This record gives sequence, structure tokens and C-alpha cells, in this order.
Amino acid sequence: MNGIAWNGVSAGYGATTIIEEIDLTVAPGERIGVLGRNGAGKTTMLSAMTGGAQILKGTVRAGDRDLSNLPPWARSRAGIGVVPQTRDIFRSLTVRENLMAGGGTAADMADAFALFPRLKERLGNLGADLSGGEQQMLSIARALMNRPTFLLLDEPLEGLSPLVSQDVMAAIRKLVSDRNLGCVLVEQHVGTVLDFCDRVLVLQRGRVVFSGTSDALRTRPDVLESAIGLSGVSG
Ligand SMILES: Nc1ncnc2c1ncn2[C@@H]1O[C@H](COP(=O)(O)OP(=O)(O)OP(=O)(O)O)[C@@H](O)[C@H]1O
Ligand SMILES: [Mg+2]
Repeated sequence: MNGIAWNGVSAGYGATTIIEEIDLTVAPGERIGVLGRNGAGKTTMLSAMTGGAQILKGTVRAGDRDLSNLPPWARSRAGIGVVPQTRDIFRSLTVRENLMAGGGTAADMADAFALFPRLKERLGNLGADLSGGEQQMLSIARALMNRPTFLLLDEPLEGLSPLVSQDVMAAIRKLVSDRNLGCVLVEQHVGTVLDFCDRVLVLQRGRVVFSGTSDALRTRPDVLESAIGLSGVSG
């Protein structure tokens, strides 16, 4: 097995359990979507993999390696890149400094600029002076600096206009397919998830209530309505 996996993972913060008995394996090149209402535990699920949430039961693995007790930097070194919901760029550093802080080389930067030409134009601008879309592009570019094999994206389109969302999604599609990345996409926009992902997990109050292909989920309006609050799927 050369993927990443959540095996029977219960996780939370302090003594509070947020997600329970999560099972998911992501192979290289595979695209998995995670859907669920606000507070369902989507970010916590990603954080269990990256080290931000405490694992109370089960393991997270990359290949044959158990990552559960490793610090976040060691998980990143194991090939897991993350684009956090909070974006987490350094507002007082320039675009260049933000990218170099992630430990990238000049070649990595050139790759990032090929994907996001806008970032090259803003090279000397401070993080704080970027638009929301540019900040998201920077956050994605930064996650690529460590050459991850797997990419976890937490609501990358949050707060972006429809046009900028399209640009960001096009870049994500391109990089995932060019680099054959295994990808977990947490996103509120159900149509985007169903279009992009091979398989989808739906979380409700920290538990998986649906796991199957995007096509299978399209035929389950009951799941979409009860777990996501959506009647019918729009583009
Ligand atoms: N650092 C934390 N400490 C304590 N509780 C937390 C922490 N982060 C999240 N929680 C709680 O865990 C639950 C799940 O939060 P989580 O952020 O995983 O949900 P989510 O599905 O990502 O929601 P959203 O769609 O709003 O981003 C919530 O009740 C939240 O208050
Ligand atoms: Mg979240």
C-alpha cells in the first residue's frame, strides 16, 4: 500500500472526541471529496492526518508508516501537503519570502509560477496586500514547496468569487493530474466536489454517513439533504 490512510480514527481536542471511527484510504492519483455541514468534523479529519488534532483511537498512515505519533513537520516530510482552511500565509512577508519559508528551491518556485502566473507578478508584495484569491494561490503554492505526494485541501474556494474559484479549481486540477497527487478536497460546493472527485465521504456529527463514488452520491438525495442540507445538486 503506497497511499495514505485513516484507520479507525477517532480524534479531537483535549478530552473531547470530534470524529469517530473514520476509515479512508487515498491512493496516488486518487481524488477524494469530503462533504458535511459546518462543524461536522471535516477540518478535524484532515488535522488528524497532519498533526493538529489528537488521535484518540486508530492510526493514520503513509504507506506502511504509522504517522500517528509524529510531529507535524515529520508528516509533511512523509509527503503530505496541506492547504489549511485558514490559509495561514505570513501577512508581513512578501510572496517570495512566504514561498522560501516553506523550504522551496528556485525550481519549485518556477513550477509554482507556471501554475499561478499572478503570484509571479506579486512577488515583492506583502501577504497582507494580496486579494483573497491570490492569498489562496499562495497557500496552495506554499504547500507544493515540499513536493508532496498527497495534498489535503480544506475549503480552497471559501470566500472566492465564482470566476476566481474557477481559476483556482483549474489550477488544482492541473497540478493534481500533472503530478499524479492523491488528493482530499474538503469543499462546501457539492457540484465542484462531485465533478472533481472519484469518491466522496459525507460526515455528519463526526461520523461517516456515506462513502462511495461521486455517481453513487448523485443518486442519493436523502444523504445530500440530511447531511448537507441540499435538495438537488446544481453545477
Ligand atoms: N482547536 C479546537 N479545539 C476545540 N474544539 C475544536 C477545535 N477545532 C474545532 N473544534 C470543534 O470541533 C468540531 C468540528 O470542527 P471542524 O472544524 O472539524 O468542523 P468542519 O466540518 O471543518 O466545519 P466548517 O465547515 O465550519 O469548517 C466543532 O464543534 C468545533 O467547535
Ligand atoms: Mg472546516
